[in-house]
Amino acid sequence: MDKPFEHVTVVGSGILGTQIAMFAAHAGYSVSVYDTREGAFEETYAKLHADLKAKGVDPVIAWDKWQGCKNAVRFTTNLGEALRDADLVVEAVTEELGVKREIFKKLGELAPPEAIFATNSSSIPVSRLEESSARPERCINAHFYMPLQGIMMADLMGGSKTTPEVLEKGEIWLRSMGFIPLRVKKEILGFCFNSVWRAIKKQSLYMWANDFVDFRDIDRAWRAFTGTAWGPFGLMDTVGLDTVANIEMVYYDKSKDPSDKPPAQLLEKIERGELGVKTGKGFYSYPDPEYLDADFLNPEK
Ligand SMILES: NC(=O)c1ccc[n+]([C@@H]2O[C@H](COP(=O)([O-])OP(=O)(O)OC[C@H]3O[C@@H](n4cnc5c(N)ncnc54)[C@H](O)[C@@H]3O)[C@@H](O)[C@H]2O)c1
Repeated sequence: MDKPFEHVTVVGSGILGTQIAMFAAHAGYSVSVYDTREGAFEETYAKLHADLKAKGVDPVIAWDKWQGCKNAVRFTTNLGEALRDADLVVEAVTEELGVKREIFKKLGELAPPEAIFATNSSSIPVSRLEESSARPERCINAHFYMPLQGIMMADLMGGSKTTPEVLEKGEIWLRSMGFIPLRVKKEILGFCFNSVWRAIKKQSLYMWANDFVDFRDIDRAWRAFTGTAWGPFGLMDTVGLDTVANIEMVYYDKSKDPSDKPPAQLLEKIERGELGVKTGKGFYSYPDPEYLDADFLNPEK
């Protein structure tokens, strides 16, 4: 398989950045990872490992390849050092426009002039970041979905000035790591599949927050209907409830429609530190959420 880049730099080593770094290393790219948090890569790697083991998931990167991928990743808290050889930079920091703009500005100043910048944002079109980078023609959205759990696809969308060659390189990069690229032809909030998933998430939160149904029943229904191992609430816990709320705010900021705001009950959970898998409690408790119980779909009364 063709490789359009040699060195990939990932900025932000949370749940997604760590997985993207692992997949890039697994596909044979040279990889560096930057985060402001000392030890972020090691820490998130251990959390992902524990979460997948607890769920009994066979990850797409086989267990015996994990250590090799980890060893291949160079972690640093020095951004200039992380960017030294970058051909592609994947930004995966907190879902906040201001933070991402600041990062894109620094990338524009510090990365090699030919480097391409991708954002893994779940909701922010790269057209809102591109000007900060001072190289808008080299910016893309590349949005991943929990790949270690087996969701091997990524949305791919350009900004207002992205060249076709840059998008093409993004697509070849995704394919080289085994991902299905979902090309978006013109800008839309949520890209390709993420906008479909967002509609499901919004309605699920509405049903729970207004006490129409128990959230577990929505998860049961979704699993019985689709045959997946988790429902919307289990998945939101994995994504992180703070990230979920930030994404909803991006939709609200655009529409100003109150029904697009994250429900108050979700914000209260976040205030209590119930962020999902990463803090041990969200809708479910971890590392052994009840949706993994054998009788979860049809519990005895
Ligand atoms: N969690 C998901 O399922 C998911 C899926 C697809 C896309 N995304 C997107 O990926 C991005 C990251 O999400 P996540 O779930 O990995 O978040 P996370 O909270 O797990 O991790 C964010 C990381 O960014 C780091 N960070 C924050 N500010 C930084 C800065 N200025 N410089 C460097 N590092 C910084 C934090 O220390 C943390 O390690 C978001 O844009 C999110 O919308 C998340």
